[in-house]
Amino acid sequence: MLKKVYPERNSDDPSRALLEKRGDLYYPTKEFQKKAWINNGKIYKEAEKAPIKFWEKLAKEIYWQKKWKKAFLHKPPYFEWFSGGKLNLSENCLDKNIPKLKDKIALIWEPESETETANRIFTYKELFQEVNKLANALKKLGVKKGDRVGIYLPMIPEIVVSMLACVRIGAVHTVVFSAFSSQSLKVRLQDTEAKVLITADGYYRRGQIINLKQNADDGINETKVEKVVVVKRAGNEVLWREGRDFWFNDLTKDESDKCEAESMDSEDPLFLLYTSGSTGKPKGILHTCGGYTVQTKVTGKFIFDFHNQDIFWCTSDPGWITGHTYTIYSPLLNGITTLLFEGAPDWPTPDRWAKIIEKHKVTIFYTAPTAIRMFEKYGAEILKKYKFEKLRLLGTVGEPIDEAAWLWYFNEAGKGRCPIVDTWWQTETGGILITSLPGIGPFRPAFTGLPFPGVRFDILDEKGKSCSGEKEGNLVILPPFSPGLLRGIYKNPEKYLETYWSQYGKNVYFTSDGAYKDKDGLIRIIGRVDDVIKVAGHRITTGELEAAINSHFSIDESAVIGIPDKIKGEAPIVFAVYKNDKNKEELKKELIDKIKKEIGPIALPKEIYLVEDLPKTRSGKIMRRILRKIFTGEELGDLSTLANPEIIEKIKNLM
Ligand code: WT7
Repeated sequence: MLKKVYPERNSDDPSRALLEKRGDLYYPTKEFQKKAWINNGKIYKEAEKAPIKFWEKLAKEIYWQKKWKKAFLHKPPYFEWFSGGKLNLSENCLDKNIPKLKDKIALIWEPESETETANRIFTYKELFQEVNKLANALKKLGVKKGDRVGIYLPMIPEIVVSMLACVRIGAVHTVVFSAFSSQSLKVRLQDTEAKVLITADGYYRRGQIINLKQNADDGINETKVEKVVVVKRAGNEVLWREGRDFWFNDLTKDESDKCEAESMDSEDPLFLLYTSGSTGKPKGILHTCGGYTVQTKVTGKFIFDFHNQDIFWCTSDPGWITGHTYTIYSPLLNGITTLLFEGAPDWPTPDRWAKIIEKHKVTIFYTAPTAIRMFEKYGAEILKKYKFEKLRLLGTVGEPIDEAAWLWYFNEAGKGRCPIVDTWWQTETGGILITSLPGIGPFRPAFTGLPFPGVRFDILDEKGKSCSGEKEGNLVILPPFSPGLLRGIYKNPEKYLETYWSQYGKNVYFTSDGAYKDKDGLIRIIGRVDDVIKVAGHRITTGELEAAINSHFSIDESAVIGIPDKIKGEAPIVFAVYKNDKNKEELKKELIDKIKKEIGPIALPKEIYLVEDLPKTRSGKIMRRILRKIFTGEELGDLSTLANPEIIEKIKNLM
């Protein structure tokens, strides 16, 4: 692939630059540094000396109903943070901000349609009232502390209200991304045994109404869901079952706007969020109350440098962890204004995202490399008229960002003057754990930066030896880990042990990412070393795609590989062994439908090849490495372990 090189642009207005270049690295200017919460390296030294003590100090940033007894307790592979402490995340987001900020805007909602004028802006007080009303309504539906509640909602304010209402009464929310299929919803609801689901009639996507209620109706079949709460959003016709279905507004309108926040133990379950598993069955990642809340508060404060006047736009759907932590909880914990946009950032015009930044005077913008590459594809010309006067910090997350995309983001979105925090983390870590801090730097394109203070990382070789120099290895986290790291996989302790704590033993958390450090210790993430592929930043395993494809009656077996894609970062390619009784084009269409139905449109492959057989070893293992090389046209190398070499030519002929 041709490497794009962008000339670097100086700030439009040098007097407003927040960044300066020294050698290959960028540093915040004195101006930016002066105002930042963290502006010198002392914090790293302090944290390194005594990480547990350091986190105890940070824990004082939030409100505890009762102080913890023990800061960190390690029983490998399990651990606890702030055990014995009592708190409530919703109380921290709302009640504790009200005295000072009651009329301050907590949430700005931007609908997809530019002509829709619905005024949906919530002050802290208004959000508090809505949350309390729903919390009371949920209690009346029979939801109790510890019960799981499914949330299958689009990007509308009610998703924020619903999550906070669950948290308020100690119910464990499980948000299912609204573009996931009814089948994906079902699997999650079955695993959690939720009795209540909150959903909507429909939602808008690129001008079309998607009938979400229909998906929800299909998804709750064969589950324990007894009550369905439905938000009226799109006004589309829906099927209704009396006694089971309730309109959100009917339930909440006469409720009291006061509902005492449940007192939660630090290690009580807070929420479950599913991420794709290797064999098709998703894993319910468990986060708990105390550690997650502390980490969410302070990572936002230190990494996005949240200050009172900030308007933060994180483009992630709350259906993903980025949406949980940084679209919703972190900005609210820090008492700032968060923006939720219902639609796609390039609809109805490619500069929709730029218009939103201007319209709402966004100060911090956080998005994924996929979105950046898409904006880049539309060209810089359309951005000329936008000044982004208020923008002061940019962030990126979800997949490695290459240098060209970094520079484009820096030049065109940041106008050559805003720092970029490249933030590494995972659904499992609950919050950002590697990045350069904006008030310190340095920023180096394509490198995420240093571990967050108080978190110990290492890069290990296959044998468990620390890699020296710039050698690549596996990224791991060492004790005391971080307060927000997952506490388990719901109802699956074996999988928890096997996935995270078996590679290097029970004391070392295995991230499944490959990485290396530069001479300054800045970490570069290379990508996953397992069967996860990141398609447009979304996490998909080859195993779950294969399971979906293999469930088609005309398919014997299949292999999926991830290949580099200009916009999406990676894209799946399918090789499927088919029974020769069908029209090939028809079968391919059916496979596409199958994937949409089993997973959702995010997992659609770039190409499907119907093949007679797959390259296999003598013991029957599929050699995906060879498939990848056939696809990219690389030299195939040593084929001596291959049991069926004759298949290579046949597959090549299909390309
Ligand atoms: C995987 C986790 C939590 C954020 C959303 C993704 C990759 C994440 C970066 C980054 C390079 C990154 C890793 C990680 N990843 N951030 N800044 N640079 N790679 O959460 O879906 O659980 O995926 O995303 O491979 O393991 P997720």
